[in-house]
Amino acid sequence: MCGIVGYVGSRQATPILMNGLSVLEYRGYDSAGICVQNGRLTTIRAEGKLVELEKKVKRFESHGTCGIAHTRWATHGVPEERNAHPHRDCTGSIALVHNGIIENYQELKADLMSTGHLFSSDTDSEVLAHMIEERMKNEMPLLQAVEDTLAHVRGTYGLVVVSKDVPQTLIAARMGSPLVIGVGEDEHYIASDPSALIAYTKDVIYLDDGEIAVVTSEGVHLNGSPSALTGSRQSKIDWDVEETTKGGHPHFMLKEIMEQPKVIEDSLRGRMDLIHGRCILGGLEGIQDRLAQIDRIVIVGCGSAYYAGLVGEYLIEEIAGIPVEVELASEFRYRKPLISERTAVLAISQSGETADTLEAIREAKRKHALTLGLVNTVGSSIARETDAGVYNHAGPEVGVASTKAFVSQLTTLTLIAIYLGQLRGVHERTHALLAGLAELPKQVQEILDHREQILEAVTSLGSTEHCLFLGRKFHAPIAYEGALKLKEVSYVHAEGYTSGEMKHGPIALIDKSFPSIVLCPKDSMFEKTWSNIEELKARGGMIIAITTDRESVGSLVDACIEIPQTLEELQPILSVIPTQLLAYEMAVARSLDPDKPRNLAKSVTVE
Ligand code: G6P
Repeated sequence: MCGIVGYVGSRQATPILMNGLSVLEYRGYDSAGICVQNGRLTTIRAEGKLVELEKKVKRFESHGTCGIAHTRWATHGVPEERNAHPHRDCTGSIALVHNGIIENYQELKADLMSTGHLFSSDTDSEVLAHMIEERMKNEMPLLQAVEDTLAHVRGTYGLVVVSKDVPQTLIAARMGSPLVIGVGEDEHYIASDPSALIAYTKDVIYLDDGEIAVVTSEGVHLNGSPSALTGSRQSKIDWDVEETTKGGHPHFMLKEIMEQPKVIEDSLRGRMDLIHGRCILGGLEGIQDRLAQIDRIVIVGCGSAYYAGLVGEYLIEEIAGIPVEVELASEFRYRKPLISERTAVLAISQSGETADTLEAIREAKRKHALTLGLVNTVGSSIARETDAGVYNHAGPEVGVASTKAFVSQLTTLTLIAIYLGQLRGVHERTHALLAGLAELPKQVQEILDHREQILEAVTSLGSTEHCLFLGRKFHAPIAYEGALKLKEVSYVHAEGYTSGEMKHGPIALIDKSFPSIVLCPKDSMFEKTWSNIEELKARGGMIIAITTDRESVGSLVDACIEIPQTLEELQPILSVIPTQLLAYEMAVARSLDPDKPRNLAKSVTVE
């Protein structure tokens, strides 16, 4: 969602804040702002992308060694400068940046207005500044004023507050929206995502829900405690700053697609014993006995993570023989799901912070299910709140549209399926699957080395505004994911369908102006999918095939993207790659920025 940065120390805050914002810009990019403390508070804000703020920062003085900054993805109020953070109270004595949503802001605002407070934005966040002001007017110290304010709000927040009257001090508070504190030498950083701190420090403290920290250059004090937080709360970020740069590629999305061979290696590293045909997942070792008892798995996730879950359903049922259901986390959390102590609820999430997925896990916990996480971000809320889990080790993903995280989710789900089979004494496919997994990085590289095939497909699609993605069995979720990717970054309206359903509706759309992208590798569904291709052709439809067998398919279709053959269970990991490249190239061909698709956010920490 939005991005937060804070700094307190002995260096000039503005360059550090601006640098942090540039790393976080992918989280929100409709407006941005900074506020620096120096006897008074200097606030500079701008509508639009970060470059607009940069221009303004160059024009105005913003000296000071303590400050806060924010890049916004609008929830309340149009994306204009007056709605950009930091928000201030009536007198400009308090400034704050806020991620999340204050659900009861309307009633709070009405009360404040009735006592004379003047509001300058349409946001929910601004009420917090006025509530703190009101309390400080009554002689409450800053920390207590923040605490008391938060006791009166409903909703979620990652919040950082600065006051002109309390020098070199930031107050940070978290409830449902992540905040991490970076520990330096006589300086501290605050961010909503560790990627904004990694250029300065790898030592971090993740705040928990309900915690309020007073952050100064000297230390971090929690919930009014007189002693500073000690090393026991510190952890180390295990990736490098290079992983958050574009590495010579024009866009993060392309960089992240191109690094997928390494990402698969990283997801597999140390987890496969090819000699004994075993899979080792350290994160699940401690709960083996309970895992062996479960009789059902429910997978929850949102967006691409949900589609990865759908592939996981096929994998776990086929490989381990355990019944699986997959549900959108946003639905699961509001139903009365029938789960028991023998159900494992597996949350899939790149960020580990998606509000709906986190709440689904909390609901599962209330029902005493075993909760598991397949999470990419180490130390994130879902990683910490689940009973056990497996990291997918894809490294930080910056592109808003998930690519490498999705591929690493599929890779790790295959390992989880093998592992669960192992616990039940099911071993038949293990050797073959592990050998197949080991080959994947090379095969993905082969696809990436033949990117010209994608450009041909983009040319055949031309200026089309609609298209259909079709796939069957393991490839039905890839059809959904391919359609999602295309619409997210190129704004072409795309629908994903299982090809078996084509005759129940979508075929009505087909004529020569309506293209279909058909996933048809040589697998157990090939002949069925082939019939669908014939049906599309009979209606004059334009077809792009993603296949392992150009020779069989090529003659009937308009364009063909050939990919290497692997085991049926692993094939989706290869076939999704051309769909990612297609979405990327379509966006670029339409002069769109695939890293900043309109209206979308990387991490959705609000409902
Ligand atoms: C957003 C992102 C998607 C992502 C989804 C779930 O919609 O744009 O790319 O798949 O959130 O995010 P998560 O971090 O939970 O995987």
